[in-house]
Amino acid sequence: MRKIIIDTDPGQDDAVAILLALASPKELDVLGITCVAGNVPLHLTEKNARIICELAGKPDVKVFAGCDAPLMRKLVTAEHVHGKTGLDGPVLPDPTMPLQDDHAVDFIINTLRAEPIGTVTLCPLGPLTNIATAFQKAPDIISRVQEIVLMGGAYFEVGNITPAAEFNIYVDPEAADIVFKSGAPITVMPLDVTHKALVTKERNDAFRAIGSPVGVAVAEMTEFFERYDREKYGSLGAPLHDPCVTAYLLQPELFTGRSVNVEIETQSELTLGMTVADWWRVTDRAPNCTFMGQINAEGFFALLTERLARL
Ligand code: BDR
Ligand code: CA
Repeated sequence: MRKIIIDTDPGQDDAVAILLALASPKELDVLGITCVAGNVPLHLTEKNARIICELAGKPDVKVFAGCDAPLMRKLVTAEHVHGKTGLDGPVLPDPTMPLQDDHAVDFIINTLRAEPIGTVTLCPLGPLTNIATAFQKAPDIISRVQEIVLMGGAYFEVGNITPAAEFNIYVDPEAADIVFKSGAPITVMPLDVTHKALVTKERNDAFRAIGSPVGVAVAEMTEFFERYDREKYGSLGAPLHDPCVTAYLLQPELFTGRSVNVEIETQSELTLGMTVADWWRVTDRAPNCTFMGQINAEGFFALLTERLARL
C-alpha cells in the first residue's frame, strides 16, 4: 500500500485523478488532499476537492487549503478551460464535510516528518506552490520523500498556456524550479503523455454507462472539459492530464519515459515556465527526473473505467 498526498487545483481532470485514487484503497492510502490556487482561486479548489470526496462517498478524507498565490507572481487561472467554478459540467451539491484547520504546507511538512523515511509519495496536479513552500520552510523533509509524481511540463508538445509552457509550470515557475532542483526523485507526466489520453466519445459513453452518480458526473465533467480542446484544436477528446499521475501509481507499466535533466525557465518573458528537457543528453547536466513520453491509452481508460465503477 502506497501512502500519498494529492496536491491539487480541481479542475475536472484533477477530480478524476482524485476519484481514481479514492477508488483504489487497496493500493493507495490517501493521507490527505492539499489544495492550491491554480485552475481557479483557492476558495474554489478546496471546495471542489471536498465536493469530489463526497461524490466518492469518502467524507472522511482530510482536505487542506494551502497557498492562494504563486511564490512571486500574480495568479493566472484557467476558467476558459474549466469554467467559472473549476468543476463546471455536472450539478453537484455543496460539500458539508469540513475543511481541515491546518495549512496544507504544514500538513505536508508534519506528515513527511511523522511517517518513516521514504514512505510518502507526493502527487502534485497543479502549480507547485505548496510543495516548494514546504521544501523551503522545512528542507529536512526533501530526503524523506519517496517520490514526487507530478503532472506538468512538456517537451515535443511544448505549451498549452503559452507557446512554450504548460499551465501548471507556467503559473508558478519559481516553485517548479525549486522542486526540480530539490534532488527528490521525480516522475513527470507532461503534455506529451496526457495529450495521448483523450476522452473520445466512446470512452465518455463508457463512463456514463457505469450508471452510478460517479460515472455520470465524470462523463459530464469530461464532456464540459472536452469542448475547449475540440472547439479550439479539433481534438478528438479532452486530454485527461492529471489522472495519468494516479494511474501511474497503480499501473506504472502503462507508461514509458526517459531519465533526463529538466530545467525551468524563470526569466524570459517569451518562454517563461518552459520545461527545458535535455532529451538527447546534449549537456552534461545530471538527470533530475523521469519524463514520461508514451502511454498505453487503451489500458489507461480500461483501468479508469473499471476503478470508477467501484465507487
Ligand atoms: C494542467 O493544467 C490544468 O488545467 C489541468 O488540471 C492540468 O493539471 C494541464 O496543463
Ligand atoms: Ca490540475
